[in-house]
Order: sequence, then structure tokens, then C-alpha cells
Amino acid sequence: MSLKVDEVLGHVSEVLTESEKKRGVLIHAFQQIQVEHNYLPAEELVKLSKNLDIPLSVVYSTATFYKQFYFTPRGRKIVRVCTGTACHVRGASKVMVKLEDEFKIKEGETTEDLAMTLETVGCIGCCGLAPVATVNEDIIGEIDNKSLQGIIENIKEDDTVKAGTDDE
Ligand code: FES
Repeated sequence: MSLKVDEVLGHVSEVLTESEKKRGVLIHAFQQIQVEHNYLPAEELVKLSKNLDIPLSVVYSTATFYKQFYFTPRGRKIVRVCTGTACHVRGASKVMVKLEDEFKIKEGETTEDLAMTLETVGCIGCCGLAPVATVNEDIIGEIDNKSLQGIIENIKEDDTVKAGTDDE
């Protein structure tokens, strides 16, 4: 089945330029693909290009323009350590080093088993709780050695549970 941009947009397409139409439809499609796969697999982008009749080069240039889209698999847990000023002063770099050492990855990388992706983030507005990190949607504040160990174990346990489930 082939979907064309004007068919997808309906009446809205009458007031948009060609470029606005393509970008709008593509961004929506990227979001859906990323929800499903956690990133944008190349084969999905090729399919999208064919279905919408948009050149693959336009599909890629649109996707790469936005920081929110990823082109490699992401971890089941996305850990973001805040490196804003308050968190920096209160030990964010120690948190990063511990996570990097524990999972043998660097900032921006994902563990081989896809258990975790480690990133940094600017101030997330909880400076009073510094140092702060997020694990998926959860915010964890006042991180100390004990809570950091809890974060690490939680990520590892989750992976163990998943591995156990896969064996059944
Ligand atoms: S600096 Fe980390 S939450 Fe503000």
C-alpha cells in the first residue's frame, strides 16, 4: 500500500507548502517509529520513503535535523545525569564516572545488551535535589553512594528479569 503526503494530511494540505507538508508528516511518522522501536531503523526509513513518495535523502535530512531522533538502538533504561551547575558542584561527575565504570560505557553509549543508555542533560529544574539523574521518566535526586548503587542494581535486575522471561 502506498500512502501519499496529501492523502495523509487531508484538508490541511491545502494551506501548507510542499516542504511543510513533508516535514509535518515525516516528524509524526518518526515519532511513531521511535515509540515502536526505540530508534529509527534504516529499513523503516526506507519503507517510509517509498510509502510517502519522499526521497530517502529528504527523509534522512529531516530526521537528522532533530536531536530527538536516534539512529542506533537505545537502552531499555535511559539514564541521564544532570550536569547543570548545581549538580556539577554536588558531584555529578562522580555519578557519571561510577555509571561509566559499572556498565563499561561512556556518555552517549548503550550497553551491548541494550540494558542502558547513558547520557547527560542540562539543568532539569530540580537543583534543590542535586545531584540529580533521570531513569526513563523517573527523577532521582540527592544521589549518594547508596542510591546510586540502587540505580545500578535496578538496571541490572531489570535486565536479569528480562533474560529470565526470555528463557520461558
Ligand atoms: S543543575 Fe541539576 S537539576 Fe538544576
